Amino acid sequence: MNSKNTISQFKRLIGRRFDEPEVQEEIKNFPYAVVRSADGGILIRVSYNGEDVTFTPERILAMLLKKLADTAEKANGGLKLADSVIAVPAYFTDAQRRAYLDATKIAGVNCLRLMNENCAVALAYGIYRTDLSETDPINVAFCDLGHSSFSVTIAQFVKGKLKILGVGFDRNVGGRNFDRLLFDHFATEIQKKAQAECPRQPESHHPSTGRLRKTEKGSQRQCLLQDRR
Ligand SMILES: Nc1ncnc2c1ncn2[C@@H]1O[C@H](COP(=O)(O)OP(=O)(O)OP(=O)(O)O)[C@@H](O)[C@H]1O
Ligand SMILES: [Mg+2]
Repeated sequence: MNSKNTISQFKRLIGRRFDEPEVQEEIKNFPYAVVRSADGGILIRVSYNGEDVTFTPERILAMLLKKLADTAEKANGGLKLADSVIAVPAYFTDAQRRAYLDATKIAGVNCLRLMNENCAVALAYGIYRTDLSETDPINVAFCDLGHSSFSVTIAQFVKGKLKILGVGFDRNVGGRNFDRLLFDHFATEIQKKAQAECPRQPESHHPSTGRLRKTEKGSQRQCLLQDRR
């Protein structure tokens, strides 16, 4: 994998300023280069067709949205995608949301609104359920442990209606923390057994964690498939 020229995990750069401490902390672990733009914004630098090029995170997001829209159109027999609703983390600030909307404009994707991810999940879970009472509400907790963040949402349902009662999150706890712990553990074991220094570069530089993640993704897909049956 050409990790220096493969842009990933850029969601955490969208709508941010280069000098923000959280951005500085993030980019330490990226395999690709991130530089400050003349106005203090963020630019991602990669080599494309042998040339050094820079992209704003919004532009990268626009490319991803365009690709997703094309895929959705193809999957629906070429039906034109007219409008979209895009889910974003509940903890996104106004600036991050505005940057998302800018990306939809660059991509030419008509976005009717941004919806909080937890609300989208709750809608998918309960809004079409026919077995809910019209008078006795049920409360459901949704837990979302992602790659870099964790959130818990409590939603209340009656038939055809939902109300979000509360949302809690930690923007800095996710699967990558588990990856890091596993990586450190096995690096120490290997070091002990082989009596040799084991490299401790950031996870994303490592083909070994890449392989580990591939296996995880495979089992994640399997879990989802099993879930649907
Ligand atoms: N089967 C699995 N077992 C354990 N962890 C897994 C498994 N499959 C995927 N993961 C981990 O789940 C994380 C990806 O989850 P998800 O797709 O929800 O993240 P995300 O929405 O992209 O991230 P975030 O919302 O935090 O920005 C990765 O850290 C990955 O390592
Ligand atoms: Mg997520």
